[in-house]
Amino acid sequence: MTLQSAFAARLVAWQKQHGRHGLPWQVSDPYRVWLSEIMLQQTQVSTVLGYYARFLERFPDLATLAAAPVEDVLAHWSGLGYYTRARNLHKAAQQVMAGFGGEFPARREAIETLPGIGRSTAAAIAAFAFGQRETILDGNVKRVLTRCFGIDGYPGDKKVEAQLWTLAESLLPAADGDMVAYTQGLMDLGATVCSRSRPACGVCPMLDGCAAARDGRTAELPQRKPKKAQPQRETVMLIALHQGQVLLQRRPPSGIWGGLLSLPEFESTLAIADWLEDNGDGELLPVWPELRHVFTHFRLTITPQCVPLQRLAASHCAEDGHVWLPLAQALDAGVPTPVRKLLLQALQSPAGATID
Ligand code: ADE
Repeated sequence: MTLQSAFAARLVAWQKQHGRHGLPWQVSDPYRVWLSEIMLQQTQVSTVLGYYARFLERFPDLATLAAAPVEDVLAHWSGLGYYTRARNLHKAAQQVMAGFGGEFPARREAIETLPGIGRSTAAAIAAFAFGQRETILDGNVKRVLTRCFGIDGYPGDKKVEAQLWTLAESLLPAADGDMVAYTQGLMDLGATVCSRSRPACGVCPMLDGCAAARDGRTAELPQRKPKKAQPQRETVMLIALHQGQVLLQRRPPSGIWGGLLSLPEFESTLAIADWLEDNGDGELLPVWPELRHVFTHFRLTITPQCVPLQRLAASHCAEDGHVWLPLAQALDAGVPTPVRKLLLQALQSPAGATID
């Protein structure tokens, strides 16, 4: 017998014996099921319990919720976070009143039209409240399935996700009467046994047949989101030195290092040669080793070009935002980290040390 054909029966039997029971939302009232699924989307069970009870005390049914001011709903959500959930809940209650005659819809496709309810949440409500043959597929279930069936690829990827939906649908139990235990079992197995970092494979009902356990791949499945190649940017920084002073330039107020004093930047060392013609006499030293700096969205490679100047042109650095500062003072000016490294290097170089 393959794991695929044994999956539902094993899960249902396991849920009945080892799954979570007695949770206040394990009822068939769709309003209560719906409320719990929304609260549990981004919040753990232990936190939800108290909020759930207080919310139901104030809004005991869908009609009461729909008629309440949204501020009142938000006040009862206060502390749970992700307040869009509360606004959508309120909006959806009003839509059920207006569009479904106050009866919560039973079909997954209809439930899914309500604000704040995606396919998996709609399926959970349809299965729990109406015993419908619909499969859930949240993050926990994706983890269970990618491991059990050795599914490669990032589960957030459209193709992989479609494959997982098809697989999940093929696993549903034969009897409609098992839909509640089965759906709860999927949630419970993912939350309590097939956890992300320390799965308890020894007590898992799917151990016999689990591809990841067999191949020692529980740590690598589900596969992580592939990292995007970071864009690379390059710049040439000018370390212009004259009489123990260094030329700094204030950066524009927005963008990287916004408003900080930094070294003047150029597109190439050739552009620095042009700059030198206009600004004084000096020589371009061989460039110093490149520095790499990692930002959240890109990597910056800095080519440092040191230019000791014997003489400054009368009109030198007439542009706004340029200042000559003694090296020690420049180090105290709150410059960006790689600039600081270059200033320290300059201080130790013959050109930086000499005052000529
Ligand atoms: N998380 C989402 N839905 C849940 C449920 N019905 N029981 C426990 N945890 C859940």
